[in-house]
Amino acid sequence: MSVLEARGLRYVIGGRLLLDGFDLTVGPGERVAVVGPSGSGKTSLLALLAGLAAPAAGQVLLDGVPVVPGQVPPGVATVLQGHGLVSLLTATENIEITLFATGVPPAEAEVAAREALASLGLAEHAGQLADELSGGQQQRVAVARALATGPAVLIADEPTAEQDSASRELVLSRMLGRADTGKSLVLATHDPEVAQRCDRVVDLGDLRADPLGRSGLATG
Ligand SMILES: Nc1ncnc2c1ncn2[C@@H]1O[C@H](COP(=O)(O)OP(=O)(O)O)[C@@H](O)[C@H]1O
Ligand SMILES: [Mg+2]
Repeated sequence: MSVLEARGLRYVIGGRLLLDGFDLTVGPGERVAVVGPSGSGKTSLLALLAGLAAPAAGQVLLDGVPVVPGQVPPGVATVLQGHGLVSLLTATENIEITLFATGVPPAEAEVAAREALASLGLAEHAGQLADELSGGQQQRVAVARALATGPAVLIADEPTAEQDSASRELVLSRMLGRADTGKSLVLATHDPEVAQRCDRVVDLGDLRADPLGRSGLATG
């Protein structure tokens, strides 16, 4: 069980100020949806929260310990756009190598990888190369890989964007169901139903639309 906190984040990219004085606390078992129009900074925020990008000011903390940009902390797993699979490894091997890196022995890793794939409807594709899978299947392998490590915090960028309705439900139920054991979720989505099923919605569009201009963000 972990607490992920963003404190006073400022983020500028391509000459655009995307976040300024941005605060967020995600408690144990909490599920937060990040929404907002394309270009509003959802992916950027997730990258900051995961330690994949460096803020211009402020910091991200996991259980009170500062997250070092460039180092995804243990206990955090990500599902990113593009999926980040190794194309010449099978679906199973893609998950196994992640588990090896956390010290899981090979025999256990293979069982865990197959279980994770099966739980996302991918049992029949376990031995296929990532390259041979459809975009939606690759996205589910990336979800399976992230879930297989049992992370305290899962950070997922539009994890249902490439799924049909049945697979979307599988992905959502696996991600949301972890809250029962105190595990947290931050996901970006354009899907109002996905956002509604989370405990809280953070709307990055609202930062721009703020009539008081509290964050001082430019529109456009
Ligand atoms: N590497 C980059 N270089 C320049 N601009 C970028 C880069 N990455 C993102 N941006 C810009 O930052 C803004 C926010 O992007 P992003 O975080 O991907 O938003 P979202 O995920 O909400 O669509 C966009 O205007 C995008 O063009
Ligand atoms: Mg995005």
